[in-house]
Amino acid sequence: MSTEERAALSEAHIAVHWREEGYYYPPAKFIGQANAADPAIFERFSEEHFPECFKEYADLLAWDQYWHTTLDTTNAPFWKWFVGGRLNASVNCVDRHLAAGRNRAALIWVPEPEDEPMQVITYQELYRRGNEFAALLRHFGGVEVGDRVTFHLPMVPDLPVSMLACARIGAIHSEVFGGFSGAACGERIADSGSRILVTTDAYYRNGELIDHKLKADQALARARELGVEVDKVLVWRRHRGEYCSKTPMVEGRDFFVDDVLRDFRDQLVEPVSMPAEAPLFLMYTSGTTGRPKGAQHSTGGYLAYVAGTSKYYQDIHPEDTYWCAADIGWITGHSYIVYGPLALGTTSVIYEGVPTYPDAGRPWRIAERLGVNIFHTAPTTIRMLRKLGPEEPKKYDYHFKHMTTVGEPIEPDVWRWYHDVVGKGEAVVVDTWWQTENGGFLGATLPALHPMKPGSCGPGALGIYPVIYDEDGGIVEAGAGRAGNICIRNPWPGIFQTIWGQPERYVDTYYAKYCRDRSSTDWRDWPYFAGDGAVQAADGYFRILGRVDDVINVAGHRLGTKELESASLTVDEIAEAAAVPVIDELRGRAVEMYVSLKPGVRTSPEIEDKVAKVIETEIGKIARPKNVWIVPDMPKTRSGKIMRRVIAAISNFSDVGDVSTLANPEIVDDIRQQVQAAKMARGELPRSLTAEEAEEIRAFGHLE
Ligand code: WTA
Repeated sequence: MSTEERAALSEAHIAVHWREEGYYYPPAKFIGQANAADPAIFERFSEEHFPECFKEYADLLAWDQYWHTTLDTTNAPFWKWFVGGRLNASVNCVDRHLAAGRNRAALIWVPEPEDEPMQVITYQELYRRGNEFAALLRHFGGVEVGDRVTFHLPMVPDLPVSMLACARIGAIHSEVFGGFSGAACGERIADSGSRILVTTDAYYRNGELIDHKLKADQALARARELGVEVDKVLVWRRHRGEYCSKTPMVEGRDFFVDDVLRDFRDQLVEPVSMPAEAPLFLMYTSGTTGRPKGAQHSTGGYLAYVAGTSKYYQDIHPEDTYWCAADIGWITGHSYIVYGPLALGTTSVIYEGVPTYPDAGRPWRIAERLGVNIFHTAPTTIRMLRKLGPEEPKKYDYHFKHMTTVGEPIEPDVWRWYHDVVGKGEAVVVDTWWQTENGGFLGATLPALHPMKPGSCGPGALGIYPVIYDEDGGIVEAGAGRAGNICIRNPWPGIFQTIWGQPERYVDTYYAKYCRDRSSTDWRDWPYFAGDGAVQAADGYFRILGRVDDVINVAGHRLGTKELESASLTVDEIAEAAAVPVIDELRGRAVEMYVSLKPGVRTSPEIEDKVAKVIETEIGKIARPKNVWIVPDMPKTRSGKIMRRVIAAISNFSDVGDVSTLANPEIVDDIRQQVQAAKMARGELPRSLTAEEAEEIRAFGHLE
């Protein structure tokens, strides 16, 4: 059978097994108060009004100077939005709300220890803190407009304060997720060329005070290996005045922020009026090659897009209490904990710890206590809360009008628990599909105007025109029952501007695949390739199947196979390594590593352990593999490429497909027997995959 025939067969298989879910309709009470309740909005954002339709989003902001060109495509695909416009992001998120809401809560920070008091940070207080830290960065740190400043901060209020301070002085912040290792942080420092690292001494996670400053020393060592020297490490303290890390402070390099801030008390800093296309921040993400990609986001376009989508899709009003339980170290937190909600002047809740600490009732106690009415989280958290406390939400008196899910496909069954039990049937559920590179939502239902369908994100968001292409660029029509590559036909204000320092990779990864004419300056020739497989139902709703590139989505975190493999290869005994996804009940996907050993090395459990440990120290705990399999050899193509899709099938007990074209087809059976027998012995029993899961595994790494 040819590859095309196989593909057609499995797509037909999807078509046959596809079960369309029924619609759920938004409650009348929600519709009555929604920001977007008039269907005329669809007309305003129709293709015919592109790109001017996005003026509606930009008009939510305060501009120092209006733009003259809405969308400049002359250097396609490096899109420029609102050219000629000037603004400052911190003014938009803080200063402009002072007149009407000075003492309204901007942020409510909930520490993980339940007996520690919450911190309410008003807009006035946020203004003060942001100004003081901006003054410190500028005068003590020597930070200038356009400089990059790396943060390695957990979920503490110092993180949004640091972000807004950078924005105030026109510096580009680059936050690295706190759970990432020191080494991963160091690589991102080096890639961005940051001279300053902002970190903290410690934070609470699952009841433990974690030493975090430790990672700063590791980060600096790695950055130095890569040729970048950090001048200053600014250390916020979790308990002000008290140092909770065992790592010594390095004289002349490490400084406690609370000490240094004394010199800047009550100082105000004039906000720098930035061009709309000036970068606001970098957010690193994983891709096909090992080097991380710093997605560069703009000031004007990005802020307009997150403000607009927060208003219409999150339905945020200033008087709401909004809680997004994502981490600010990911794009979701940047867009939908900090910039979007604060641009709209609402109250945004930040929780320090894990949602199930000390028990699975914690989120609902927070919601009840604070009167949260908009809730936002990821399927992995929903699955965990359901498993540990299926009845917990019923015990608490909170009422959500709106709930979001983001980051991974959500199983219809999990969706229904979210809707019925967490939402008590009173809340709309908005499944939002998008990516680090996108700034904000790409696919979602407009909550008062579209019915919900479990497991589908819905149609393209306002002003976003998605399409599914097959491998040859043919359009896969809605209702065809076939999967393909989801793309966006047009640029939008929230799209990233480039990959920091890797403009060719930006073009190659996201635009080359379906570009019709490389010399064209017409946006119609440059569809954006998202790297996700999807199907579109006859009603236009998209169902996202998962990544088609070498990225594994673990609990909503994108991990590159190359990063996992390079880390494994640092273990002396390892000759070759391959990372594959395995379907996991709670985390969505987990990582499994396959490794082969150098000649003469004997298999041992210690080697498995070394691989797991090195992945933890190189990348972070979230990347820890579920299993490490030491195999005699890898299945390879005749040109020597490891066929990840074959071992992925073995790990998932699914069909390995046609292996006759491999250089070493006989190895497949050996590995299957070894791995599947061991899995059965460990109680990891096979279960039949859904059509979507089978398609994802079949397509895994097909871009190789
Ligand atoms: C996946 C997170 C299904 C998808 C905002 C995408 C989703 C990757 C959804 C981006 C969703 C995100 N349904 N899959 N609602 N949202 N994804 O960059 O594979 O961390 O490409 O951005 O997560 O992950 P990232």
